[in-house]
Amino acid sequence: MTILPEAKGKTALVTGASRGIGRALAKGLAEAGFDVAITDLPSQAAELDVTKSEIEAAGRKAYVYTMDVSKKKDIEATARALLEAAGSIDVLVNNAGILKPSLLQDLDEANWDAHFDVNAKGVLMMCQAVLPHMRARKSGRVINIASIAGRQGVPTQGHYAATKAVVITLTRVLAQEVGMDGVTVNAICPGIILTEMGKNNLGSEAAIRHWEDVAALKRLGAPEDIIGPVLFFASDLSAFVTGQALNVDGGIYYH
Ligand SMILES: NC(=O)c1ccc[n+]([C@@H]2O[C@H](COP(=O)([O-])OP(=O)(O)OC[C@H]3O[C@@H](n4cnc5c(N)ncnc54)[C@H](O)[C@@H]3O)[C@@H](O)[C@H]2O)c1
Repeated sequence: MTILPEAKGKTALVTGASRGIGRALAKGLAEAGFDVAITDLPSQAAELDVTKSEIEAAGRKAYVYTMDVSKKKDIEATARALLEAAGSIDVLVNNAGILKPSLLQDLDEANWDAHFDVNAKGVLMMCQAVLPHMRARKSGRVINIASIAGRQGVPTQGHYAATKAVVITLTRVLAQEVGMDGVTVNAICPGIILTEMGKNNLGSEAAIRHWEDVAALKRLGAPEDIIGPVLFFASDLSAFVTGQALNVDGGIYYH
């Protein structure tokens, strides 16, 4: 458990927090001392409640909202409700995302649009809802969960990789647009993390062994491996770091 003294009295918002990396981040932020607001699709309400219990078990306040990150009205309503309930949003973690593999040659328009709506536009609209508040308070941390796929795609993930490249670019530009107001914007590029998404993506035990072998650390990631880098970007330790995208992949990719 990492305790951050500066987290006291602050609220972090994590999207897609009903499972996987989002749930681990919500718990990690709570254990570090943040109150945590968690959001996910309405279909994930029961799983969100499990995450809520984990935040409360760490002794922090939990705020729960069901919403779709691709719907502007949902986002605006959630940001308003959370600001009213908590008084501030100090850290925004844009984690919600989807991956439905397809060869680009066979990719249908609906699948392309769904990835861009959730993974790219969702991040932009969350930032648009929260940044004015952070800028007015002259402080805030935005952490976007991109992917090493955003650096270099692999077959069947071209559309997903393109959305994650967008997230890295949004991170770089937003950082320049809001830095004068004391807000930092950084991205994390996880490698292969053994969540529902990660396992579906790999598909077979043989593929898991292959990627374990490729990784310098000879293992794939757990959701908890993303907590430390998020706490770094959420804390005073990264006060002079903005517009960066950090690979957290056990040594798979080096650019
Ligand atoms: N697992 C990996 O190997 C890996 C690697 C690199 C990046 N990532 C990224 O990390 C993030 C979390 O991935 P994960 O592995 O925990 O996946 P996951 O599928 O377990 O979790 C994703 C969460 O996002 C939610 N979500 C999906 N669409 C949504 C929408 N429209 N509105 C709100 N919530 C929505 C899901 O319900 C789910 O709870 C994603 O952005 C993903 O692209 C994952």
